[in-house]
Amino acid sequence: MKKDILILGIESSCDETSVAVVKNGREVLSCATSTQIDIHKLYGGVVPEIASRNHVMNIDGVYKKALEDAKVTLDDIDAIAVTYGAGLLGALIVGVNFAKALAFATGKPLVAVNHIEGHIAANYIAHKNLKPPFLCLIVSGGHTALVSMQSYTKRKLIGTTTDDAIGEAFDKVARECGLEYPGGPNVQKQAEQGSPKIKFTNMDKEKITDFNFSYSGLKTAVINYIHNSSQRGEEISVPDVCASFQSEAVNQIVSKTMVALKKFDYKKVVLAGGVSANLFLRKTMDEEAKKVGAEIYYPPINLCTDNAAMIASAGYFNFIEGRGIADPKTLVPVSSISLE
Ligand code: KG4
Ligand code: ZN
Repeated sequence: MKKDILILGIESSCDETSVAVVKNGREVLSCATSTQIDIHKLYGGVVPEIASRNHVMNIDGVYKKALEDAKVTLDDIDAIAVTYGAGLLGALIVGVNFAKALAFATGKPLVAVNHIEGHIAANYIAHKNLKPPFLCLIVSGGHTALVSMQSYTKRKLIGTTTDDAIGEAFDKVARECGLEYPGGPNVQKQAEQGSPKIKFTNMDKEKITDFNFSYSGLKTAVINYIHNSSQRGEEISVPDVCASFQSEAVNQIVSKTMVALKKFDYKKVVLAGGVSANLFLRKTMDEEAKKVGAEIYYPPINLCTDNAAMIASAGYFNFIEGRGIADPKTLVPVSSISLE
C-alpha cells in the first residue's frame, strides 16, 4: 500500500502566522493560525515591522499547536513546506528561518512554496477530485490574474495585473470610505446595504481585447467622487459607493474570465486568493458560468484567506514531483515572484 505523505506547512507572508499538517495534499490534519488583524486594525493596514515581530513571538506556539492538534510529532513529517514569497520580507523571513531550522536539524526535505500556488492549492483541499487542467482566476491582495493550469505545478499566464490588484483596490476604497482594515470584507458588507447606482468607469462598455486587469482607474474614480462630494459639502452614501465599486470591480474579472473560458476552451474555472471570499463575486460568477455550462470552484471562506494548510498542499504537489526542493542553508525569502 502507498505510504501517506505528511507535509508540515508554514505561512508568514503577511499578518497571519500559520502552521498546518496536511496528508497527501488534500486532508488537513491540523491548521493552527494566529491572526494579527486586531493589532493592524489600529493603523488601518498591515505595518510590516509589527507583523514581523508578532510572527517571531507566535511561531513557536503555533507550530507546537499544529503538531499537537494533528496528533503527530516532527518524526512523522515527510517534508517541510514554507512560503518563501511573495510577501513582506520581514514577515516571510520568520517562517522561512523557522522552516530552515527544522529542516536542517532533522535532515527532512525543505520545499519552497510560492504563496499564490498555495492559494490555488486551497481548492485541492476543498474539492477532493479537482485536478488540472483548468482555468484559474487569481484575485488577491497582490494579484489579479488568469492562469492556465496545465498540471499541479505547470501553469501559463494568460493575463495579469497592470497596476493595482483587485484586493488592493478593495482595501483602498474601504479606507477612503472610513471602513476598518481588512477592507475587502467591510466593503462587501456595506455593499449589501447599497445600490450600484454610481457609474465610476465605462469598463462594461469596453470591448475585451486582452486579459490584463487594471484597477487604478476605478480606484481613482472612487477617490475623486468621494473628495468632490466632500468639497461640495455633499454627504456620500457609503453603501452605494461600495455597491457601485464592487459591481464594477467584479464585472471586470467575471467578463474577462468568461471570454477566456471560451477562447481557451475550458469548462472549469477555479478561483483563488482572498478576494474569492467575496460573496457578490461568487454569485455573479455562478450566474455567468451557468449560462455557458461551466463549473466554478472556490475554496471555503476559511481557506480563502492566508493559512498554512494551502501551503502544505502546494508543498505536497511540488514535493512528489521533486520541485521546489530548497537548501536549508541558503533559502532566502523574496518579496515578489512571477506567476509562471
Ligand atoms: O489573497 P490574499 O491573502 O492576498 C495576497 O496573498 O496577496 O487576500 C487578501 C485580500 C485583501 O485585499 C482583502 O481585503 C481581500 O483579500 N478580501 C476581500 C474579501 N475578503 C478578503 N475582498 C473582497 N471581499 C471579501 N469578502
Ligand atoms: Zn494571501
